[in-house]
Amino acid sequence: MTKSSGALRKRKSLSHYYNTSQYRIDTWNKLKSLARRLASGEGKAKELRKSVADLIAYLAPIEVYWAFPGPQLILQLTRDAEHKDFEALANRVTRVAGALMSGEYRRKHINLADPRGFEADKEEVADSGTFAETDRTRKRIYFEVLIVDNLSQNQMDAQRISLANMRRDEDQFTYAPVFVSSLDDALIAVSMNHSIQSVIIRYGFDLHSENDLPTLKTFLAKARREDIETIDSSEYGEVLADTIAQIRPELDLFLVTDRSVEDIAGRVGSTCRRVFYNTEDYFELHLNILRGVQSRYRTPFFTALKEYSRKPTGVFHALPISRGKSILKSHWIRDMGEFYGLNIFLAETSSTSGGLDSLLEPSGPIKEAQDLAARAFGATHTFFATNGTSTCNKIVVQALVRPDDIVLVDRDCHKSHHYGMVLAGAQVVYLDSYPLSQFSMYGAVPLRLIKQTLLKLRAEGKLHRVKMLLLTNCTFDGIVYNVQRVMEECLAIKPDLVFLWDEAWFGFARFAPTYRQRTAMHCATTLRNRYKSAEYRTEYQAFQRKTAKLATDDIDAWLDCRLYPDPDQVSIRVYATQSTHKTLTALRQGSMIHIHDQLYKSRVEESFHEAFMTHTSTSPNYQILASLDVGRRQVELEGFELVQKQVEMAMVLRQNIMTLPLLNKFFRVLTVGDMVPEKYRQSGIKSYYDPDHGWQDIWQAWEGDEFCLDATRVTLFVGTTGQDGDTFKNKILMDKYGIQVNKTSRNTVLFMTNIGTTRSSVAYLIEVLVKIARSLERELEDMSPVERRIQARKVKSLVEDLPPLPDFSRFHDAFRNDLTGQVAEGDSRSAFFLAYDAEHCEYLSLDEQELDRAMDSGRDVVSASFIIPYPPGFPILVPGQVASPEIIEFLRKLDVKEIHGYRPELGLRVFTEDVLNRIMKSKGGASDG
Ligand SMILES: Cc1ncc(COP(=O)(O)O)c(C=O)c1O
Repeated sequence: MTKSSGALRKRKSLSHYYNTSQYRIDTWNKLKSLARRLASGEGKAKELRKSVADLIAYLAPIEVYWAFPGPQLILQLTRDAEHKDFEALANRVTRVAGALMSGEYRRKHINLADPRGFEADKEEVADSGTFAETDRTRKRIYFEVLIVDNLSQNQMDAQRISLANMRRDEDQFTYAPVFVSSLDDALIAVSMNHSIQSVIIRYGFDLHSENDLPTLKTFLAKARREDIETIDSSEYGEVLADTIAQIRPELDLFLVTDRSVEDIAGRVGSTCRRVFYNTEDYFELHLNILRGVQSRYRTPFFTALKEYSRKPTGVFHALPISRGKSILKSHWIRDMGEFYGLNIFLAETSSTSGGLDSLLEPSGPIKEAQDLAARAFGATHTFFATNGTSTCNKIVVQALVRPDDIVLVDRDCHKSHHYGMVLAGAQVVYLDSYPLSQFSMYGAVPLRLIKQTLLKLRAEGKLHRVKMLLLTNCTFDGIVYNVQRVMEECLAIKPDLVFLWDEAWFGFARFAPTYRQRTAMHCATTLRNRYKSAEYRTEYQAFQRKTAKLATDDIDAWLDCRLYPDPDQVSIRVYATQSTHKTLTALRQGSMIHIHDQLYKSRVEESFHEAFMTHTSTSPNYQILASLDVGRRQVELEGFELVQKQVEMAMVLRQNIMTLPLLNKFFRVLTVGDMVPEKYRQSGIKSYYDPDHGWQDIWQAWEGDEFCLDATRVTLFVGTTGQDGDTFKNKILMDKYGIQVNKTSRNTVLFMTNIGTTRSSVAYLIEVLVKIARSLERELEDMSPVERRIQARKVKSLVEDLPPLPDFSRFHDAFRNDLTGQVAEGDSRSAFFLAYDAEHCEYLSLDEQELDRAMDSGRDVVSASFIIPYPPGFPILVPGQVASPEIIEFLRKLDVKEIHGYRPELGLRVFTEDVLNRIMKSKGGASDG
């Protein structure tokens, strides 16, 4: 192989991994099997030696970014190979590959110095300058510390020893240093090495890496500041700190400088944990490193609950299960105690004192836990909820929306928002998402439609009544908005607009840099900083000049402009609700509300408190609260690693389905090109992964496209099997193979990966899909001509004959307060409560002619309830909405069994003509039918 083709191979193979650390582990495993063959004398020695040397050379530039096993071991392996000591080489490689796979090196010391491999670990090895093992240190949690400095090998060794000598018995954690000597290397290290928790940035390091990793060039070009080549080298430290904070905001950064420490501390105070002046005080540094990690590791409420459960207490309140009392003494329910273990009952309490706290008025460990969560998720305030995002959504809506305020809502949002609108008495303007009729699902709301609605409301003089824009990011199917762009352009029209981003499915997104840029809290901070900057003022002035002559009501002209808010008028008011339990570690119903609202203190705090009181139980579940606290600790320390692995798992699944010919025959993974129409993909990228190019383009798409796709969700098109999504899910995946999925459409099933998804679970799913494909293939082969025709008809109906997805029709005039203008906001609340009186309602059967006759005669058929088919899981009709022929056709063609609000034996619950006429008369008009 020539040098350049070797480099090409290296580039291609690395680019096929979303997660470089997975590439690294796979390469070590490959090296292990070759080294073992070489040691045992199997195969052609010369070729094996060459392949082993090549793999060591591939790993060498990667290992410089890890403390374990570290660059020293690569040198040792090279020496073993040169001395033809293949036994020692194979032992060492086997040890490393095993420790990396199992993560064992993060729990105990692995002795790689001894060429006997596994044997050596059986002995206690005191190795000065590395890790002296004692029983205590075994239990310590291990991490790595990046030191950015220009050091000789001797200096590095001396520093390693100095830091190792600082360890004390009482330390809770242990760490090993990774040394790099340039800004580029530091960026690569923090993006590749998820074990790094702290970074010490010294001075005098270089800008560029000597390490040639071509696949990381794109990453570096994105990560580095654009003007980096023009910056004075004395500023590299500060610039590096800022850039790392963009990539991994959770890391503790320590800046060591030889310049005025006070000046620098003022500038980097928000990104750096501490600034040191030219320190050689390793003990101080060591303590700060441990303290930084400890402050993320701390779980105030979980710890308080554990402590409380250890205290002897007498229980004289209404909680018989507390301390397991009602269970352990029982003759009949002891199995419950045996199943759960005692701890959960010891921790079961409703006490708000004795070291615990009250969720309704937190001032102790719950408050602290919430504050830590706010830091972790980038919010100014965070609130925990023990009854899901369904409740969080209602809390936020009630806290901000008064009766008669106008709220713009995406029509296919979760039902909790629709109920929230009823409770708040909002005037709702439903916004339609773009349809994906070929897959019987909806996308998301185009920015143009949102702007157009706001511009029309402005032209109609109603803008002052508009309070909130409510969108789901990301959607169940994984469509992700360009959050920053949406907020910026909307704020240009309504500078104090409140945004509620339903991030029920997006809690994990903050912990991966690509995803983070599309989260509500990140964008809130970015926009707030942007509007304070002088550069933005210049941008805004240019926009003002460009639009100076546009008339306010020239909606089309405004729509064609990129809009910029006035920095002197704008307020950042952003709320996000997250089902922590859906995507991170938390018990069911554990959710969080994150807030970045500049006006929170002055305008919202009181009403938020009331709304929180309205919806929160006075007996919140402490186990759920503790799990939220622990879930926060986890993401601050390993979120980056877990999310990368999760995306990697989704990629492995995609890759297998795309490349196995048997699977290809029946299944297709939908790409971003399938789920986001071309006009919303400005990058032109159709697939984030393809078998030829790997994962190259995801950054570009996520940076600029109007919509992108969350790659952790894999939507599988199953129409070609002749089974609809629901049957495929229940009858095949669940009943036959025990695989759970929670969303389907007429011809798709959605596989969600999560931070707990393992390679084995992905392998099992692929195995199952192969089995299903094989059995389908056999069935098809054995079919009679008649059966074949029936099968072809089924496939056609699932692939071609899909009912068009209906848009929101309109509110009946009886439920509209203001009949002027083009934007028809409606009042689902009055319709909702009107339906409480049975005499106002009647039933029209979907199956009978009566409904068609009524509609043909010109009668407005107006829904008296929410009609929510599963899937898609959002209301196809809301109270007060006129049923359109398209909606009726859609309902008739739906083949799902679960339609909430609809009783097939009775029909659609609609308002009587009589009651509608009466309301219209009282408004001084005739029914609009
Ligand atoms: C978009 C969206 N928001 C909110 C919720 C409700 O969340 P929870 O189950 O935490 O109450 C869901 C549930 O599926 C959802 O899909």
